[in-house]
Amino acid sequence: MSDEKQNKSNAPTPEDLGRRQFFIRMGVGSLAVAAAGTGLFGYDYLSPRVLFEASPLVNVGKPDQYPVGSVTFDPQNKIYIVREDSGFYSLSAVCTHLGCVTAWKPELDMIACPCHGSKFHKDGIKIEGPAPRPLPWLRMWMNEEGEMMVDRSSELERRQFVQV
Ligand code: FES
Repeated sequence: MSDEKQNKSNAPTPEDLGRRQFFIRMGVGSLAVAAAGTGLFGYDYLSPRVLFEASPLVNVGKPDQYPVGSVTFDPQNKIYIVREDSGFYSLSAVCTHLGCVTAWKPELDMIACPCHGSKFHKDGIKIEGPAPRPLPWLRMWMNEEGEMMVDRSSELERRQFVQV
């Protein structure tokens, strides 16, 4: 009787088996979650941190689309294309104060910054406001197909018109 009792106490009951299976599955599940997390972290860690920026070179098209005396704002590239009797030039539309994008005001014949009130002539020279420098002239040239190109990353030291 005591043997039977002892055997009963050591042998796993169906309840014990269910509990054991439960803990085994919990363990396997935890390992699977940890492995997945490690994989995701490793993939994220090893992925290159590259910031893709648009090319600084902009094709602004054929000269005949710009009337003489026009100031054309290109909001996507944040530049102005200005055509005068003496030729074309391109200005950065980014204010030299704190980098707001300026706007051409044809009714005032000037470029104005909406942020802190800097104003510029259409050749970039500052009229008033906190901007410390004029709007820079950008390198501009004609390509082999007769289209005008602007390099937004290249500021000119001296004024340079593109003749057509
Ligand atoms: S950012 Fe243009 S005036 Fe301040």
